Amino acid sequence: MAPAAINEPPRLDVAALKAAAGPQAPVVDLRSFAHFNNTPGIGTEFRAAGDYRDKSGKPILALRDILDDPASLRALGRLVSERGVVFFRDADISTDEQLKLVHALGLLGGKPETSGLHVNPCTAPGQKEGDEVARISNNYVFGEKFKRDQSTMLLRRVGKLSWHSDITYEPVPSDYACLTIRTVPETGGDTLWASAYDAFDRLSPPMRKFLEGLTALHKGVGFIQLARKFGIPEFRENRGSPENVGQALEAVHPVVRTHPITGWKGLFVNREFTQRIVELTPYESDQLLEFLFNHISDNQDIQVRFRWEPHSVAIWDNRCTFHTATFDLDNNVREGTRGLSLGEKPYLDPNSLTRREALEKQGVKPQS
Ligand SMILES: [Fe+2]
Repeated sequence: MAPAAINEPPRLDVAALKAAAGPQAPVVDLRSFAHFNNTPGIGTEFRAAGDYRDKSGKPILALRDILDDPASLRALGRLVSERGVVFFRDADISTDEQLKLVHALGLLGGKPETSGLHVNPCTAPGQKEGDEVARISNNYVFGEKFKRDQSTMLLRRVGKLSWHSDITYEPVPSDYACLTIRTVPETGGDTLWASAYDAFDRLSPPMRKFLEGLTALHKGVGFIQLARKFGIPEFRENRGSPENVGQALEAVHPVVRTHPITGWKGLFVNREFTQRIVELTPYESDQLLEFLFNHISDNQDIQVRFRWEPHSVAIWDNRCTFHTATFDLDNNVREGTRGLSLGEKPYLDPNSLTRREALEKQGVKPQS
């Protein structure tokens, strides 16, 4: 069977975008707008207009005001890559704008021009929002076609088991992602992110050194099981990059990767997709991965938890974070849309530094 329809990146004038953010462009410092860091290590939130808690006197940054400004978008991409995830409140954004935003952030960050937007392997062609928009819902998977099982307290997924970076089973995985929740429950369904920079910095130097010599196999096992369950005969190809093809849904990546924008090292394994460490025996691999997965999920000092409100927007960098939903919704509806940009093939630059090492070298406090 011929490959299904190839996804089309949103029509952006790449040359104009890059030129407008080139060396001559004004340097934008988004920290000059009213914001706060959610935790020392991860998360920055821009204040919404009228937020009585803000005493900084700084101007309010509206996401809408910078969607067409390449210099500001370049600064936003850098901030997301440094802080892992950036939040906006009262930022009404269409699905098309979500796609353009993440694609522009990736291009301005220097991703290969062959990297477009991801199409989930199980997405049926021609869904109403477009194939590149992922519908995030606690009721359905992959659009409105497949209903999830009813969730009860005893059938809730275990949050600790769901930490992941998006689509690491792809040879060219994601850089930037943008999620907004359009049907917001009164309470419940928070999202948590964890810093891959801090996860790595929190390991002892001998352990870090050991991990730097390793690679790991990632596989989309959950999607393979879902396809079997729902009778999906074939996965989509290509999935946003000429390298994201094939029906195996697997890729080998370094266990520690260097972020191309910050230059910082981060841990790059996750419980949802990482199957085994290639260079170790199966027993060694299982034990070490279990330790690393627990290291990510059990240390709340490297995590941030975000409560969704109407028109909240989260933009994160999958190269340096992990995330999970909170499975406390029962029958309350929570639905949103996500755009997912593809970045570059993960790599480790042996000369790169950890986040703490780099900031200390610059004389900067890690939480600033
Ligand atoms: Fe995800």
